Amino acid sequence: MDDLERLADDIRDAATVVAFTGAGISQPSGVPTFRGDDGVWEKFDEGQFTYGRFQRDPVGFWADRVELQRVMFDEEYEPNAAHEALAELGRDGSLEAILTQNTDGLHGEAATSAREGGTDETTILELHGNSQRVRCIDCGKRADGDSIFERAADGELPPTCDCGGVYKPDVVLFGEQLSGAVIQRARSLAQESDVFLAIGSSLVVEPAASLPRLATSSGATVGIVNLESTPIDGSADVVVREDVTDVLPEIRALVEK
Ligand code: APR
Repeated sequence: MDDLERLADDIRDAATVVAFTGAGISQPSGVPTFRGDDGVWEKFDEGQFTYGRFQRDPVGFWADRVELQRVMFDEEYEPNAAHEALAELGRDGSLEAILTQNTDGLHGEAATSAREGGTDETTILELHGNSQRVRCIDCGKRADGDSIFERAADGELPPTCDCGGVYKPDVVLFGEQLSGAVIQRARSLAQESDVFLAIGSSLVVEPAASLPRLATSSGATVGIVNLESTPIDGSADVVVREDVTDVLPEIRALVEK
């Protein structure tokens, strides 16, 4: 039996299947990844995008963030075959949750399209927030990011809310804590999972590094889908080093067979 058949069999038999995704799942949609030769952190200094800098120097932070946003999200991205395969597994009741580090919102878009006419809802946890939104650090109000990024690009640095508070991109910055409730939910899902798929992530940033280990120690079948090796390949049950848009539709087709 080949690796994908084994994963598909385990998914079919599982009570709880969880997918964990990183930038590699959105790369075929055109969204740049963070690491690697074409990675965003080759063009930008990640040290400039910390929570500390946002607090210390919101003007400089926002000026740089506008540039980063332009490089990362200037185009209109569409979900690709890998997002769609996960959305279909969710709709058909074979996938409990998607935990994503991505802030591009593409899992949500794919789920909305897949759900048309159906009722199943997969939990989508955006661990690092959503780049298409901003949040006021004083009153907590969330707003659509597009118009706020436009205001910042036009020179309103930093952009502010009606209440006078400074807006922050609604993402988790380096040095900022992930929401305790979100991380606890993600940990519980990893522990409950019978199959845990880590897809398109270098698995070097927390909690990416520890969630697959939690799943392994709880007895889950752990599968990794990534073009390059990752630090946890050694403890995974199945490692597939191929493009996400080839692998995920194939897994979905095998599960449905
Ligand atoms: N198919 C399969 N894997 C792919 C593909 C593809 N088409 N394209 C890229 N990959 C793999 C790369 O080999 C790489 O290991 O996806 C991985 C992406 O890794 P990163 O760029 O490090 O992205 P990610 O793991 O999501 O980064 C985690 O780091 O800077 C922070 O907050 C940022 O959420 C991000 C976090």
